[in-house]
Amino acid sequence: MKDILDELEQRRREARLGGGQRRIDAQHARGKLTARERLELLLDEGSFEEFDMFVRHRSTDFGMEADRPYGDGVVTGWGTINGRMVYVYSQDFTVFGGSLSETHAQKICKIMDMAMQNGAPVIGLNDSGGARIQEGVASLAGYADVFQRNIMASGVVPQISVIMGPCAGGAVYSPAMTDFIFMVKDTSYMFVTGPDVVKTVTNEIVTAEQLGGASTHTKKSSVADGAFENDVEALSEIRRLFDFLPLNNREKAPTRPFFDDPHRIEASLDTLIPDNPNQPYDMKELILKIADEGDFYEIQRISRPISSRVSCGSKARPWASSPTSRRFWRAVSTSTARARRHVSCGSAMRSRSRS
Ligand code: HXC
Repeated sequence: MKDILDELEQRRREARLGGGQRRIDAQHARGKLTARERLELLLDEGSFEEFDMFVRHRSTDFGMEADRPYGDGVVTGWGTINGRMVYVYSQDFTVFGGSLSETHAQKICKIMDMAMQNGAPVIGLNDSGGARIQEGVASLAGYADVFQRNIMASGVVPQISVIMGPCAGGAVYSPAMTDFIFMVKDTSYMFVTGPDVVKTVTNEIVTAEQLGGASTHTKKSSVADGAFENDVEALSEIRRLFDFLPLNNREKAPTRPFFDDPHRIEASLDTLIPDNPNQPYDMKELILKIADEGDFYEIQRISRPISSRVSCGSKARPWASSPTSRRFWRAVSTSTARARRHVSCGSAMRSRSRS
């Protein structure tokens, strides 16, 4: 028995090392955390239950049979954020660049299925070069299975993607179908394929940042809902966003104790909105004054002025008009500050309409 337990422990140690210490050091040198370090920050301490730690790929092409690391480039399981259940996957860039193999896809599909069955959100920490080239169509079919679940989960449980490394191909198509996408500045990229392939195929020279960096996707394409300075800030902000979301489409937004007087009169609202409809005003100031304790989680902060976002919704992204799309959850997230604590600033608004 002792031998078996020793071997189990040895395998666990090996699995935790992913692609090896040299690649972990390289990951750190780029200012990035490893897949497991990220999960430690995202989830409540000691809450993570890992699945399929010893899964290995089955590929025998291109000498792959000689290199079969445990876990196959993704850490999956469930845990809690402030006591509320969440399913997670975290891709390990140290193992074949976090690329998605047939078995890697099966691990992700399993937690997505469980999330839908149990009514809990899915958070994906993406750090992947896309389909694993050595596996060919087997990995592409794996993506088809993931995409199918992205669609089935849409509007049923919230899906949050955090892009935390150079993500290419399918590693971007799947996040694009989720409700929220966040990036990390200077270390994360979202592109169909990387700058080297672009140069080879089209002769165009373009930097990774221009092609799919956080500035491109928050300021130009509007694909990303926000960008954070580093991994630590990104993960702590995702914890905060999570607090605003219902766990699924059958639950109400969460509630917590509040200290903002429900009868608080916000006299400045009487003058904040100008009588002249052509005169601009700061919508964000208004929201902060209305929301309980000024607690407001803003998304798409950089893309365009908040006044146009609030009034125009998601016109920049036509797919957002579906009731099961990201707009559905977004509406929840921005209104939750009021809904979850049952506070109304109606008195101030009424006093304004009377005047
Ligand atoms: C297998 C991959 C890989 C991939 C990276 N690696 N991408 N292995 N399949 N898709 C491996 C590299 O060989 C390397 O292994 C390690 O990961 C780190 O990669 P580097 O290139 O050294 O890192 P970096 O310079 O940071 O560049 C990262 C990158 C680049 C931008 C992601 O690797 C890249 O452009 N990869 C190809 C991306 C791509 O075209 N993907 C599309 C796949 S098709 P070692 O052993 O050196 O550590 C697809 C279509 C889906 O996804 C369609 C679904 C229907």
